[in-house]
Amino acid sequence: MTTDTGSDTVPGVEASGEPVVISGARPTGELHLGNLHGALRVWLVLQQRHRCLFFVADWHALTTDYADSGNIQANVEEMVCDWLAIGLDPERAVIFRQSLVKQHAELNLILSMITPVPWLERNPVYKEQREQMRDRDLSTMGFLGYPVLQAADILMYKGTRVPVGIDQVPHIELAREIARRFNFLYGSVFPEPEPLLAEAPRIPGLDGRKMSKSYNNAVLLSDPPSEVDRKLSRMMTDPRRVRRNDPGDPKDCPAFVLHGIYCTPEEIEYVTAGCRSAGIGCLECKKIMIKHVLEDLAPIRERRSHVGREDVETVLEQGTRRATEIAETTMREVRRAVGLTP
Ligand code: TRP
Ligand code: SF4
Repeated sequence: MTTDTGSDTVPGVEASGEPVVISGARPTGELHLGNLHGALRVWLVLQQRHRCLFFVADWHALTTDYADSGNIQANVEEMVCDWLAIGLDPERAVIFRQSLVKQHAELNLILSMITPVPWLERNPVYKEQREQMRDRDLSTMGFLGYPVLQAADILMYKGTRVPVGIDQVPHIELAREIARRFNFLYGSVFPEPEPLLAEAPRIPGLDGRKMSKSYNNAVLLSDPPSEVDRKLSRMMTDPRRVRRNDPGDPKDCPAFVLHGIYCTPEEIEYVTAGCRSAGIGCLECKKIMIKHVLEDLAPIRERRSHVGREDVETVLEQGTRRATEIAETTMREVRRAVGLTP
């Protein structure tokens, strides 16, 4: 016997019950090429096929940046502006802002009552991040409880599929355990969410490290074409190509990751041969890729120029209203299950 779920569905989701996709992103301000080819491409595909909710996790920003929170509002606006520019569609997905749906705080509170602290302390992400961010005091309740809030974000909408990067998988696992414990204690309310891992390429930044705004090595979606060209023309290449006639290898070249995404098979072949034989120079080689990047970014730029601050506000207001409706329905069920209401 086979269960044909059709090519339209996400593999692994049971044929019964529509998958509900939910994901959040911290407000990081303007987006860059790494964001575009990471989470966002996946979101764009998912919104075509499934019930989706995408939100700005602004309370999550406070868990690590509580001492430096002045940029949050601007970062939310800029990020959502870019979301709309790349084609996230408020007609297809519910796009909202976490801190405007107060039910997240209520569910976070209730879930925190049933989450054993050792579950949080043994979370590898928790340990790792505390090590990495020694410059701030992360011995806070909010930082330890971060995954509980994340579980609340997901369970609130009875999310079943959570598109995230591999680094977030332990958090989703914890959300599953919390859902299971809640259902065991109070009766079956929540489905167990599963991570949805898409193999997104890791985009190197201009200096060869991971592309990140905090490393100051990013190509922003909002950069004007001349700036994109300037930045990418200086992007790091195979360090063996010191002089024009030193041969190199594309597989040791950070810039070539972008060729891999953007160039045609013929161009890849041409560039690869030229690199290994020192037949072409790095600038010439990069120009071939830059042309495609500019073509890709042009319509985004165009759309971005029509997205105003009021549009962002309208989208978030409308999305928040829809999210609140669902959230309140869930919370009524939760309050009843727990025994807080008749
Ligand atoms: N923790 C995620 C991150 O740092 C953001 C996030 C918050 C999230 N809540 C979520 C992702 C719920 C998926 C589902 O990237
Ligand atoms: Fe990279 Fe192209 Fe230079 Fe080779 S020729 S190192 S692939 S930029």
